Amino acid sequence: MGPTAVHDEVFSGVRLAIERLADEGQALEAVAAALAREGEVDDARLEELCPYFGVIWPSARALAEAVADLGRAGLARRRVLELGCGLAAPSLVAGLLGADVLATDYHPDVPALLARNAARNGAPGVRYQALDLRRDDVPGGFDLVLAADVAYVPDLPPRVVRAIDLALAPGGRALISDPGRPCLQALVDLAAARGLRCALEVRTVADPPRTRDVFVLTLTRG
Ligand SMILES: C[S@@+](CC[C@H](N)C(=O)[O-])C[C@H]1O[C@@H](n2cnc3c(N)ncnc32)[C@H](O)[C@@H]1O
Repeated sequence: MGPTAVHDEVFSGVRLAIERLADEGQALEAVAAALAREGEVDDARLEELCPYFGVIWPSARALAEAVADLGRAGLARRRVLELGCGLAAPSLVAGLLGADVLATDYHPDVPALLARNAARNGAPGVRYQALDLRRDDVPGGFDLVLAADVAYVPDLPPRVVRAIDLALAPGGRALISDPGRPCLQALVDLAAARGLRCALEVRTVADPPRTRDVFVLTLTRG
């Protein structure tokens, strides 16, 4: 996975210590070099093993803040699913505020890092399941589905929207954050085509050394 470092982060008053990759550029070069040594220079394989999971993206900050704003009253004992969780900051916030959380991703390095971050922050209610949005079945019955910056290549929006549709319990909602990638409109259109109503807010979050506007969509059944 490469060297990691632990940083303190605060999301709307919820403090977390998050272990993440110390240098994602170096981690990406290491993955590319390892695949080249094995004779695998396939772009798809490189994308699968890309260390995007190990970064706190602005979308994760915005979503973690939106989740923190729901408070214990909005999260305690709720069933929460996060798709493409990476470092899973929104899941960790939800877990600290009493939710029963299932965080999912497809990258093989995510579960070990998540287990350490859950233990480090005293959030034992955050469990992990490997879930590849392109291949796997999605469990159902969730009150809240979370996805931060997951629809970043064109084949992912339909998979993310389908996963949300399958995962939501009646009356549930999804919160999706996105920095304004080209696929965002497709995701909104696909959600509407499945009868999901979409409300939009913009959150300004830290993206050191500056700030960044991130879209946060709330999807509910129309
Ligand atoms: C840009 S990163 C965002 C990570 C995290 N949600 C955040 O905002 O910090 C995209 C995430 O989606 C995950 N991902 C990409 N394709 C996926 C797929 N087919 N199934 C599940 N997760 C996927 C990656 O492993 C990565 O963790």
